[in-house]
Amino acid sequence: MDHLQTSKNKENFATMKILILNGPNLNLLGVREPDIYGRQTFESFFGQLCSEFPEVSLEYFQSNHEGALIDKLHEVGFTYDGIVCNAGAYTHTSIAIADAIAGIQTPVVEVHISNVHKRETFRHHSYLAAVCAGSIVGLGLQGYKLAIAWFLQR
Ligand code: DQA
Repeated sequence: MDHLQTSKNKENFATMKILILNGPNLNLLGVREPDIYGRQTFESFFGQLCSEFPEVSLEYFQSNHEGALIDKLHEVGFTYDGIVCNAGAYTHTSIAIADAIAGIQTPVVEVHISNVHKRETFRHHSYLAAVCAGSIVGLGLQGYKLAIAWFLQR
């Protein structure tokens, strides 16, 4: 099942619209390999993000399905101000997601919770990096926060 959450802040302040897009297995954050990905669920982290960035209209979408991620990129990619994308393992396999990012107008920042360069060699290559504005790797969940801060400051 896909997960969708939106911030409650937007009524009062929102000027900027940012989507956080998480790919496969990231719905298991908090219980999945906690030594690598930590013990916090993304839902609880998303609550923190909404409080920290009241001026941003934040939306969170997670899917385990490549096509659903592509559909979401198409849906928001001509109207939102930024997309923070952790495509999970599709990072290392999906030309289709790379093409979707290349085809939209909204800039995308790639985030990885773990330092993929310290891990298996199949995680070292990202099909998405070349079509993203930049990448934040290995800084845990803080990477999402840094990406939002970058969108706010540009
Ligand atoms: C990940 C790294 C990927 O290699 C892995 O497949 C994930 C999570 C990360 O956030 O560190 O699912 O994107």
